[in-house]
Amino acid sequence: MTSHAAQSSAAVSPDASRAAFLRSRIASLLAIFPLGVWIVLHLWNNLSAFQGADAWQTAVTQYPHPVAQALTGVIVLLPLALHTVWGLARLRTARVNLGRYAYYANLKYVLQRLAGIGVLFFVGAHLWLAFLKPRATEGHAEAFADLAQEMHFNPPTLIVYLLGTLGVAYHLANGAHASCMSWGVVSSRRGLRRLEGTALVFFALLLAMAWGAIYALWAAGGPAHL
Ligand code: HEM
Repeated sequence: MTSHAAQSSAAVSPDASRAAFLRSRIASLLAIFPLGVWIVLHLWNNLSAFQGADAWQTAVTQYPHPVAQALTGVIVLLPLALHTVWGLARLRTARVNLGRYAYYANLKYVLQRLAGIGVLFFVGAHLWLAFLKPRATEGHAEAFADLAQEMHFNPPTLIVYLLGTLGVAYHLANGAHASCMSWGVVSSRRGLRRLEGTALVFFALLLAMAWGAIYALWAAGGPAHL
């Protein structure tokens, strides 16, 4: 064994790499279930903006019982926090190998990390502005008319929602794809090609739902509706 190989095997013990492997499996699993499933439902619920204020308010901001609200908080925010901590730790060890591996795979690797950073800022701002601030300062959940007007008359809000949801759609679809690969869901070349296609369709669906909801809010905030 060369001294370099001896050093690297001493640096990462089997126990440490088993623990890292387990952490990465748990983090990717939590990001898909319950977090990813909840994001799909959240975007779907936001599409009720096409049906007007009451339908949107019921679908997005109301809970049948306070326990249901607390449970949603735990089911969504806890996996979100765990995934964020794990993602930030992985970001520190990220290595870009442009030129050494296939260009497309490298591009996806870089985009996944850039999207992750963007999503972190978007979700942080979104949690404060759409979820916590209205409750803390006005004593009620975000009102349809307020968000619709913000979307229509405040360009930064519109741009942040468009780019933030683009980042979420990419990060979730590509993350689900990567995690199917690491779980060994498919192995044949044909299976891998099909999985790639499915990830692209999933990305397009997420983006269509998000931008559809944003469009409905933007349209409802226009002068004709005020
Ligand atoms: C179409 C774009 C979106 C709109 C219009 C929107 C709107 C809202 C609103 C109004 C709330 C507050 C709900 C309440 O008062 O209970 C909320 C909560 C939340 N949103 Fe979004 N959202 C969008 C996209 C996203 C995306 C892409 C994510 C990705 C992670 C996300 C994550 C969250 C989270 C984590 C909460 C807090 C949920 C809870 O704990 O109950 N949102 N959203």
